[in-house]
Amino acid sequence: MGHTIAIDLGTCNTSVAVLEHDQPQVLYTSEGARVTPAFVAFVDGERVLVGAAAKRQAIMNPRQTVYGLKGLVGRRYESPEVQRLQQQLSFELVPSGTGDVRVRVGDREYDPEEIQSVLLHRMRRMAEQYLDAEIAGAYLTVPAHFNAAQRNKTREAAKRAGLKVRGLLSEATAAAVWAGSHRRRVRHVAVVDVGGTLDVTILGGEAGTLQTRAARHDPTLGGEAFDWRIVKRLYELLRVCHDLDVKGDAVALQRLRDAAERAKQALSEQEAVAISLPALGTGAADAIDLQHRLTRPELESLTQDLVDRIGEPCAAALRQAGVTPADVGELVVCGGMAHVPAVRARIEAVFEQPAVPLTSPEEAVVLGAVVLSHPMGGAGG
Ligand SMILES: Nc1ncnc2c1ncn2[C@@H]1O[C@H](COP(=O)(O)OP(=O)(O)OP(=O)(O)O)[C@@H](O)[C@H]1O
Ligand SMILES: [Mg+2]
Repeated sequence: MGHTIAIDLGTCNTSVAVLEHDQPQVLYTSEGARVTPAFVAFVDGERVLVGAAAKRQAIMNPRQTVYGLKGLVGRRYESPEVQRLQQQLSFELVPSGTGDVRVRVGDREYDPEEIQSVLLHRMRRMAEQYLDAEIAGAYLTVPAHFNAAQRNKTREAAKRAGLKVRGLLSEATAAAVWAGSHRRRVRHVAVVDVGGTLDVTILGGEAGTLQTRAARHDPTLGGEAFDWRIVKRLYELLRVCHDLDVKGDAVALQRLRDAAERAKQALSEQEAVAISLPALGTGAADAIDLQHRLTRPELESLTQDLVDRIGEPCAAALRQAGVTPADVGELVVCGGMAHVPAVRARIEAVFEQPAVPLTSPEEAVVLGAVVLSHPMGGAGG
């Protein structure tokens, strides 16, 4: 009997987990990371880069690096969501003969699920290598707002990657299971997933059943929006202090973007972080080095409006479910951005309670999915 794996196919990151000796385990990449950036790049028309290698060169190779596929699968080209994404994504989107969105790279066109299957194939290989065995099947997680087309295309991506899809699981339910909410049998659980996008889901019903009662989605309130605020700040510093404009310099922008994300992540743990980018551009005399000490209060002031806006979909989900914060027995805050103290505090304020403590909130979905896919095993927690 082969193994069953769980895959969380995210907007920014994809991860895979298995059950080993009854313990859910997230698998490491060959670079030692627990997530694979959801980036696929085509280089020189032949080589394909996947994951961190693709993300690292994304801004320098903007037309041929594909990312954010989760927002594209199963969508119509003319839909407002796709039209909005086209403003942000650096690669080209085109309609298929039937009006679905496709991705154009060079003179080739791809269905979004075709490129997603490259990521899923990588997950399958990681699991096969780790387990040294065939993979019998996979459970994939999808957000509550996904419609039938998006779900079907996600299944199709997995099939193309040679995976037998055992089922699709709700991301919010998986996160709540990992948090242990099903064991405490509360009436309503609020799950706020702040990752590449924001998803607010209210689960409830008969105590412990975790049916979806309400779901709100905001693709504009993910982690990248925070990163770009830092990039803009660094960009302004370069302009004002060094009279250097890097807007047209893809290599410099890539370095600013990577440094911004790292700084944001560091500030989840520390009060301040030193950003140091040597030789960013050449000024009148010497090479220009960017040095900036970014503090948590500065990050908070740069992103205050984004944090405030997180309250709106939370309140809307409560209204949609017809419940008040007092009816919510448990709050689960997950996704990578759950590490950000201001984000967590804002969500806890709306729901008027502390969130269930999770050590790795970005892994709650994939770990919960493993528990759900092996109902007999898997401790959860
Ligand atoms: N320690 C941290 N502090 C702050 N931000 C973090 C931290 N770790 C990860 N992030 C951010 O979390 C975001 C990615 O979160 P996550 O991996 O949960 O998204 P995703 O699952 O791909 O997206 P989605 O669930 O919306 O499809 C990125 O913006 C990343 O920079
Ligand atoms: Mg996610």
